[in-house]
Amino acid sequence: MTNKLKYFIGNWKMFGDFASFKIIHKINQYIQNNKIQKKNRIVLCVPNILINFFIKKLKNKSIYIGAQNCHHQQDYGPFTGGVSARMLKKMGAEYIILGHSENRLEGETPKLIKKKIISAHNQKLNVIFCIGESNKEKRSGKTFSALSKQIKLSLDKKTNFNKIILAYEPIWSIGTNKIPNSNELEKIIRFIKNNIKKNFKTKKIPKVLYGGSVNSKNIKILSSIYEIDGFLIGGASQSVKKFIDIIKKYYK
Ligand code: PGA
Repeated sequence: MTNKLKYFIGNWKMFGDFASFKIIHKINQYIQNNKIQKKNRIVLCVPNILINFFIKKLKNKSIYIGAQNCHHQQDYGPFTGGVSARMLKKMGAEYIILGHSENRLEGETPKLIKKKIISAHNQKLNVIFCIGESNKEKRSGKTFSALSKQIKLSLDKKTNFNKIILAYEPIWSIGTNKIPNSNELEKIIRFIKNNIKKNFKTKKIPKVLYGGSVNSKNIKILSSIYEIDGFLIGGASQSVKKFIDIIKKYYK
């Protein structure tokens, strides 16, 4: 374990209402009382309708609030039901998850994700860009080529690498209680960092998080993997106890 800044990012998915503020409040309080915000960045990515409500209600903010997706058009426009990066920024979001496999499965293409990343960066949002292979790709030995392709099609030399974090989330590990074995995971995270360094000639190598079934039981194994810069946590981030237990056990 090192002193590098660690990210614990919650992805609430389609969960929450006004009463869920108590979860945000308690997590914020824990971070403050334990003074862990200097070496950890805690971000909760919540449904759009709750972003501004949470931000306004939160006093002495030690956590960050983010969104989970946006329209590719960054401004206002004739897109029924759409929410743009500008609107999210105005609501107070500082981070945004893009390219999540649940949205890719609904038809979001790498090209569309690329446009969304540009829109989010134009609005100075920090992007959490998700990539990951399917079970089929893994079984046929195509993990590395699948990841390379996702990176290549959604990023380019003009990408602002100061404001992007990657999240490696194998699709087969999301919500399944399965995580990759440590050696594999270490290799993959290193591969992602090297791929970006080599292909985009950037001095700033982005942080790479792991996501998929992270919980307080497997966090100890995950914490021993040096290359991992933090975690994208789905289901367990909807509970104060489960989320805080992950942070506590990480440092135990
Ligand atoms: P999970 O989800 O932690 O519930 O597996 C992770 C994610 O989808 O970001």
